[in-house]
Amino acid sequence: MNATNESSLVLPFDCPNAALDKWIRKMAAICQPDEIVLCDGSEQEWDRLTEQLVQSGTLTRLNESLHPNSFLARSNPSDTARVEDRTFICSLREKDAGPTNNWKQPDAMRALLKEKFQGSMRGRTMYVVPFCMGPVDSPLALVGVELTDSPYVVINMKIMCHMGQKVFHKLGAHGAFIPCLHSVGSPLEPNQADLPWPCNDEKYIVHFPESREVWSFGSGYGGNALLGKKCVALRIASSIARDHGWMAEHMLIMGLENPEGNKTYLTAAFPSACGKTNLAMIIPPDGYVQAGWKTTLVGDDIAWLWPGKSGKLHAINPETGFFGVAPGTSWQSNPGAMHALSKNTIFTNVALSDEGGVWWEGLSAPPKHLIDWTGQDWTPDCGRLAAHPNSRFTAPANQCPNIDPHWQDPDGVPIDAIIFGGRRPNTMPLVFQAFDWTHGVFLGATQGSETTAAATGRVGTVRRDPMAMLPFCGYNMGDYFGHWLDMRKHIKRLPRIFHVNWFRKDAAGKFLWPGFRENLRVLEWIVKRCQGRIPGHETPIGWTPDWEDFCVEGLEGFTEEQFDAAMEFRREDFLQEITSQNEFFLKLYHSMPKELLCQHELLMARMA
Ligand code: OXD
Ligand code: MN
Repeated sequence: MNATNESSLVLPFDCPNAALDKWIRKMAAICQPDEIVLCDGSEQEWDRLTEQLVQSGTLTRLNESLHPNSFLARSNPSDTARVEDRTFICSLREKDAGPTNNWKQPDAMRALLKEKFQGSMRGRTMYVVPFCMGPVDSPLALVGVELTDSPYVVINMKIMCHMGQKVFHKLGAHGAFIPCLHSVGSPLEPNQADLPWPCNDEKYIVHFPESREVWSFGSGYGGNALLGKKCVALRIASSIARDHGWMAEHMLIMGLENPEGNKTYLTAAFPSACGKTNLAMIIPPDGYVQAGWKTTLVGDDIAWLWPGKSGKLHAINPETGFFGVAPGTSWQSNPGAMHALSKNTIFTNVALSDEGGVWWEGLSAPPKHLIDWTGQDWTPDCGRLAAHPNSRFTAPANQCPNIDPHWQDPDGVPIDAIIFGGRRPNTMPLVFQAFDWTHGVFLGATQGSETTAAATGRVGTVRRDPMAMLPFCGYNMGDYFGHWLDMRKHIKRLPRIFHVNWFRKDAAGKFLWPGFRENLRVLEWIVKRCQGRIPGHETPIGWTPDWEDFCVEGLEGFTEEQFDAAMEFRREDFLQEITSQNEFFLKLYHSMPKELLCQHELLMARMA
């Protein structure tokens, strides 16, 4: 298939959707793949592609008795994470992308991309991947089509979203779709041997919010390449959501059922590396389990929210899989994730054990020998990490034992609480509740997390990450805050908004709160507040729990003094916090809603 003219190109399959047919031919004429294959999402296709990837050296088949139907991929060491500095929001007007996004004039970007994609799939197959974010019959479901030259992307997409024939049918002759073009940017000359992980040093992850398109060049990894996830379900969806009165958020969704059988659903937004997946899959402490508390999981990363029939905000998880960070995941920290990744899973950049299993830091005691994520021999004393810190598992969500019975309900689940939080060694108490929706939006807008040395080279700096959406908002962040404030008018029964911090430390650097499963105690207080069952304690920053209303039963040795320390609100810390929040607000000054500036002043006044 070497036609470079779209009109002389005929697709090797029947495509009843004329717009799709035309777009595929147009893109194929630019990318010049050797062949074009329509993906059906079947098990046979999975078997064929995984076997092909094993043969080409991209995948290693894991020991069938340890991890049935599972594989390990090792990426190129230059292609191991999302590339925020190469991610662009190319809106027609620069101010619509806002000061927190990279922007380039759309025509100039299109010209540049066309050059990059020219012949980029030579020697490769172009896979046509119809996908649907959200349950196929949900009113919010978004259909996209990803054209990719990476079979690794195809098998990951099969886990992460509804994909293949059923979506192609949903699209029918006239259905609209979000066009997503992806190339690893590594064409092959005739007889040139392929690399196990082809990619390009130059990367572009580009979104055109007005025309709802994604173009991704140069990377085969995660959110850069599985375009349904961050690109469509967050950046493009946030822009669609603003126009149509709903919200696309970087949030987990979970259910919490008390011993009386009352179930409350909540969502939570935390920046990366704050334990979102662990909270999404939390198992209550033993005493709670015995008393009859249950937790369920709807989603671990993305929530789409809209005013539902019940008058509450309803939420769906647009994904069907987890793309979870492996290091730190263990039977102790997250048994739900361990069950989910026990079979039918793709691991990327973890270590391979001598038994043909997988290992990563924090899983168990280090084995005597491994093959590390770069393919080298590894021993515990070699001074290198065995797994890349951003190594991942791509696992089907329905393999999580406590997946919620309504997780694929097209009408979603009704939300009673929204939680914001971050990794804050000081200043932020364990939990507090916003006074109202506007104050809650302010808490989300000022949310931050301490940076790790790996991210910035500096420890102790707070990176502002409003609603954990800084890298994922497809339009101007100030307008995004405006949209949050606007939503208040459309939701009859507003969720309550909370802020949590599991990571506060004492002067000696010791965590003040035990965290992990014990975080359920904080969720219990949140649920009781939503149900109006307990009073809160009014402070200048919001409502906080009183010792007598916070359950510490079974938490051996946790004293009222420790509780007070974890909950302490220090005026001098908050005055510094306000200054730091202000720096971030100034960056967004031109689009910042006045209500939030007013919230800032009210907070200062309450401090006085
Ligand atoms: C993710 C992230 O990969 O938020 O989910 O970084
Ligand atoms: Mn995420």
